[in-house]
Amino acid sequence: MAYETIIVDTSDDIAVIRLNRPDALNALNQKLLGELCMALEEADGSDKVRCIIVTGSEKAFAAGADITEMADKTFVEMTSQAIFQEPSRRIEAIRKPIIAAVSGYALGGGCELAMMCDFIIASDTAKFGQPEINLGVIAGMGGTQRLARYVGKSKAMDMNLTGRFMDAEEALTSGLVSRVVPAKKLMDEARGAAQKIAAKSLLAAMTAKDTVNRAFETTLAEGLNYERRCFYGLFATQDQKEGMAAFAEKREAQFRDK
Ligand code: HXC
Repeated sequence: MAYETIIVDTSDDIAVIRLNRPDALNALNQKLLGELCMALEEADGSDKVRCIIVTGSEKAFAAGADITEMADKTFVEMTSQAIFQEPSRRIEAIRKPIIAAVSGYALGGGCELAMMCDFIIASDTAKFGQPEINLGVIAGMGGTQRLARYVGKSKAMDMNLTGRFMDAEEALTSGLVSRVVPAKKLMDEARGAAQKIAAKSLLAAMTAKDTVNRAFETTLAEGLNYERRCFYGLFATQDQKEGMAAFAEKREAQFRDK
């Protein structure tokens, strides 16, 4: 598929989706979001892909929703066209693991997109923020909800009310990102993590993603019950037999997603 605003590179069962609007710091216009969703869905449905990386450029993961595209919209247009709702729903529906590899600016919708991925690996140049307040609006794709779950109320309020940016070190200590590496090593690190994930049973990896996400949607008792059911369910797979046999035989497991 030929895309205009993203570049997709699939090799070694990992799909790397690179946001590519360099003139606008990868601002998320409707075209880019539509293409991103298509590429994610294609990777999700592919027999070959086992893990997905979403990344941007060295200067910007994405500097937010495209302000020029939004500026003249009315309340009625935003509501009736469900702007940003459809891509959120489609990204949330992806079942394979997605890593966000973030360098430079991840602001507004860019920060929200990174948080929609399963975890974030950041370069030491990364800057996260929800600066929508400076534009007279608020976050619209998870910047008040997901950020509060990632970093807690105090920092989420601080970010959303002042619009200040959080650097990579603060993002690491507050739990927004899982790792920080020098900018030059970002893609190697993300690829290394993706390769590790790709070597697991995809059934187990997708179940792990689903169950961790469930923690943010339900009570502890319900979540534990869901986790236990999923755990038991994996004993119906050949991959569970293979994984445990390989441990006993002191060899690498050969998972077949069955
Ligand atoms: C459209 C954008 C853009 C954006 C940058 N550009 N961010 N265009 N939408 N969000 C464009 C600039 O207009 C400029 O185009 C080019 O990218 C380079 O940006 P500069 O500002 O010249 O770069 P720099 O001085 O390095 O400043 C970088 C920056 C700044 C700090 C990231 O660009 C900035 O503040 N951007 C806006 C960040 C923001 O408010 N994001 C939230 C958006 S609202 P020209 O043509 O002039 O060269 C949002 C709502 C989400 O995300 C709701 C749900 C998704």
